[in-house]
Amino acid sequence: MDSLPALVERALAEVASSGDLAHLDEVRVRWLGKKGQLTEQLKSLGSLSAADRPAAGQRINEAKQQVQEALTARQSSLEVDALAAQLAQGALDVSLRGRGEQSGGLHPVTRARLRIERLFGDIGFTVAQGPEIEDDFHNFTALNVPADHPARAMHDTFYIEPGHAGEGALLRTHTSPVQIRALRAGKPPLAVIAPGRVYRVDSDATHTPMFHQVEGLLVDTDVSFAQLKSVLHGFMEAFFERDLAMRLRPSYFPFTEPSAEVDISCVECGGKGCRLCKQTGWIEVLGCGMVHPQVLASCDVDPERYTGYAFGMGIDRLAMLRYGVNDLRLFFENDLRFLRQFRGG
Ligand code: PHE
Repeated sequence: MDSLPALVERALAEVASSGDLAHLDEVRVRWLGKKGQLTEQLKSLGSLSAADRPAAGQRINEAKQQVQEALTARQSSLEVDALAAQLAQGALDVSLRGRGEQSGGLHPVTRARLRIERLFGDIGFTVAQGPEIEDDFHNFTALNVPADHPARAMHDTFYIEPGHAGEGALLRTHTSPVQIRALRAGKPPLAVIAPGRVYRVDSDATHTPMFHQVEGLLVDTDVSFAQLKSVLHGFMEAFFERDLAMRLRPSYFPFTEPSAEVDISCVECGGKGCRLCKQTGWIEVLGCGMVHPQVLASCDVDPERYTGYAFGMGIDRLAMLRYGVNDLRLFFENDLRFLRQFRGG
């Protein structure tokens, strides 16, 4: 049988040469485990005389401790190596500079929408919403645009292929269908604005296939055109934060009668004439009118008792005018250099 020092020497050599933690554990079991070679040594004590036993026991225990210490030291050095290898594999370069905190901001169209909601909220309008995939009834028929009505040609409509979203489904061409939904859901008096996305087959510097509108609707007894005019004028001056002249031109919408197109004095030149207003001094900002009795009737509202006004405007267009943006498409390209300019307060 090998002498104790020779056993320890072999054990230490095995510890030193084990290249990974699994191998090291095998070495531990082989020497110090229940049936390990050094553990086995203790069993030989029985054959010694009582006088020799304590000293022999102590030597064996010291030998075991020596091997245990070597195992522990080897284990921690293998763990460090393993971590280093893992880090190298993950290629985590801790000297790389951080990316820093990027603060975001609201999109200019969102900012304009929130402003509009707040300004109308201040005078008692609540926000109403409706689906972007509409049906023919809400987008046209209930708004006094029956099938074959020439006014359908005013909107280049995206229709949804049959079988995908119900009979006659389309992408709403304006937010006016929310008038219908609001009137059918609630009874007058009613004052709502309905901001949201609308869709038309159109694309150039001032038209995108998707854009944003906000519809306004107020229905009550004794609502007048003069009230409509004053509310709109007050809104425009609040939105642009300046005194503005406003004029109404007679127009046509199937769902309002009378109808008007609203112009404000040019926000660029103040009315003197410039490129933005094409030298006219005026900028067209919205369409409006008194709700057509037929529309009230199709929403089960008595047109003899109630009157109402409605208006619709382009949020993107108002945002362009307010922020001096000359190409609508910039709002949808989402170039950060453009968007960052609107980040502040
Ligand atoms: N819905 C109309 C459009 O998109 C705008 C409008 C709304 C006109 C409400 C009058 C009243 O062109």
